[in-house]
Amino acid sequence: DKAFGVKGAMLEYNPGRCLMPPHHLKIAQAIIDAPVREDDIWLISYPRTGSTWCQEMIWLIGNDLDFDTARNTIQQIRAPLIEMSSVLFKYENSLGKDLIENSVELVNNLPSPRYIKSHLPLPLLPTELDKIKPRIIYTCRNPKDMCVSFYHHCKMLHDLQISFEEFGDQMIRGLTPLGSLFSHYLPFWNKRHETNVLFLKYEDMKRDLRGTVKKIAAFMNKSYTEEEFDKLCDFLSFQNMRDNPGCNFERILEETYGKDFFKRVGNHFIRKGQVGDWKNHMSPELAKRFDDWIEENTKGTGLTFD
Ligand code: A3P
Repeated sequence: DKAFGVKGAMLEYNPGRCLMPPHHLKIAQAIIDAPVREDDIWLISYPRTGSTWCQEMIWLIGNDLDFDTARNTIQQIRAPLIEMSSVLFKYENSLGKDLIENSVELVNNLPSPRYIKSHLPLPLLPTELDKIKPRIIYTCRNPKDMCVSFYHHCKMLHDLQISFEEFGDQMIRGLTPLGSLFSHYLPFWNKRHETNVLFLKYEDMKRDLRGTVKKIAAFMNKSYTEEEFDKLCDFLSFQNMRDNPGCNFERILEETYGKDFFKRVGNHFIRKGQVGDWKNHMSPELAKRFDDWIEENTKGTGLTFD
């Protein structure tokens, strides 16, 4: 409550907890019960792990590299976050202004094949995911960089009132939005060898974007020429993504908070895009606590971070 100035809803599951905005309770069960289709592609991730970037890769690969639509239709319409109902926004399309009030209905009514994203942990996702087994792509990121990125994000969008050191402490204690990090990462890490699951790391996406999009294309049974991959990688570069109103969140945020939002707050949804930014933020004490926390939670799992 102190951190965000608003009372959140803490959803407990075994073993973990997930802090959500209170209105999530209105859609939580509808998400768990949402029907899953065999030809869906689900992108699941903890926030700030490069999921918007990866969702853009997935959507373009699935849609014959339709760059025009990717620029002109915001990602939340093409490939929505299923729990996005927390943000009501008006979307202007060729038919006029639509109020996106219920993201679960939006997802339920999408034509196939659907491209769906979620930041929820496995126990709060549709139970049919395990039965129908659609393709699932999971992105994770070094917890230290993710924490820095999430801190800036929460300051920009959720009126976060606490210091970075306090935020880091809350992350270790599972008290940041979306809750326990390793209860989110590990169930998908443990599924990484299942044929319908592709587990990706942000650091690998940064190091080898071309290799990553090829991996995703192969996973989706899609093939493109080397020239097409050139164009795709160029479209997905940090600067191009940042300038692209189709996926940089500018339109949604201006609709919600008013004109020139990024300029006013001096920040950007697609912020810095670097590996190792934690070194500019973390005290040696907090970095050591993170190292111990990571070690304790990944011991014996094989999950490692750059
Ligand atoms: P930073 O805050 O470290 O810059 P998500 O979409 O899951 O919330 O993740 C957001 C993070 O992905 C942000 O990290 C953002 O800058 C980064 N990102 C988005 N597009 C990117 C791109 N094209 N190249 C590199 N990083 C990108």
